[in-house]
Amino acid sequence: MMPAETKVWKIDPMRIEEHQNDIKRAAELLKQQEVVAFPTETVYGLGADATSEQAVRRIFEAKGRPSDNPLIVHVAQPEQVHQLVTEIPEMAKKLMEAFMPGPLTLVMESSGAAAQNVTAGLSTVAVRIPDHPVALSLLEACEVPLAAPSANRSGRPSPTTADHVFQDLNGRIAGLIDGGATGVGLESTVVDCTSEIPIILRPGGITRQQMEAAVGTTMMDPALASQQEAPKSPGMKYTHYAPEAPLWLIDGDDQFFKDQLYTIEQDGSRVGIIASNELAGQLPGQRVLACGSRENLKEIAVHLYSALREFKKADVDVILCETFSEEEYGEAIMNRLQKAAVKKINQF
Ligand code: TXA
Ligand code: MG
Repeated sequence: MMPAETKVWKIDPMRIEEHQNDIKRAAELLKQQEVVAFPTETVYGLGADATSEQAVRRIFEAKGRPSDNPLIVHVAQPEQVHQLVTEIPEMAKKLMEAFMPGPLTLVMESSGAAAQNVTAGLSTVAVRIPDHPVALSLLEACEVPLAAPSANRSGRPSPTTADHVFQDLNGRIAGLIDGGATGVGLESTVVDCTSEIPIILRPGGITRQQMEAAVGTTMMDPALASQQEAPKSPGMKYTHYAPEAPLWLIDGDDQFFKDQLYTIEQDGSRVGIIASNELAGQLPGQRVLACGSRENLKEIAVHLYSALREFKKADVDVILCETFSEEEYGEAIMNRLQKAAVKKINQF
């Protein structure tokens, strides 16, 4: 049974103390095994009591998410991380000290405190402490850890505003806390801490360089590079971040992009473009969404998911997007774009 109406609370994250009544109401819904969407510093999450199999089932129902894709458990305090895992390896301790709260998720051996369907039957559990006043306040108020995937319908781009959540899940969830736009714009970095060296299962808001400064060597999950191998992070194998119209990645210089664009337009196709400010400036009269300077990948990350949602099927037949450097934040940006795209055209 889906709730008929989604209750929406608007909360100013800078004045969280003035909204404690709303936080309390949202926490009550969560205690009654309902699901509530809330902002984090990365993207909006869809929360449910992580210790309750019944509550967690509602997340999968609302999202239409495959049940073999495990969820991240969110907590407010480092002590709560201890309760969820059998032990915290040395490198995980260092990562926690350096980046929690923050956009980093650690995979460790599960103590069994999280419900079976949170971990999709795996022996490990993914845990993070979000760095957002609304998320932290909600976690404190409901007193249980919250399982929370991104609050989008499965397969769609992750939501960076409450409006995105509303578009996808209105009438399917009990509550939604509108705390304004999220900061990072891409999801947390997921790191497997169960072997000798930390393995990055999903690049995200903490870059590989930042992690290596804290713990030395890290590894990328080989499955990130080759689509053939079964990925270790189960979620990485599904269609993700898909806009309404097919997305094509154009990998080349600006002239190559323009050549491709004009060729595609010649057969009458209506084209939407997602680009850096630098390329957008060269495309007057086009339907183009500029996401920021290509010299500032952090800014591109903030605007990317919004851009993917912006172009509607009714208006464009195809979306062209430039490729970005894979350095630093670019690693996560290009990971998401590769997954969102149905086709890539290479110049070289
Ligand atoms: O920033 C984020 O991480 C957001 C916000 C809401 O916190 N959450 C998020 O959750 O992106 P979701 O469910 O969309 O992605 C979770 C990822 C998936 O790729 C999943 O397969 C992986 O984490 N994951 C979860 N538990 C795991 C585990 N035990 N072992 C390996 N990967 C796991
Ligand atoms: Mg997601």
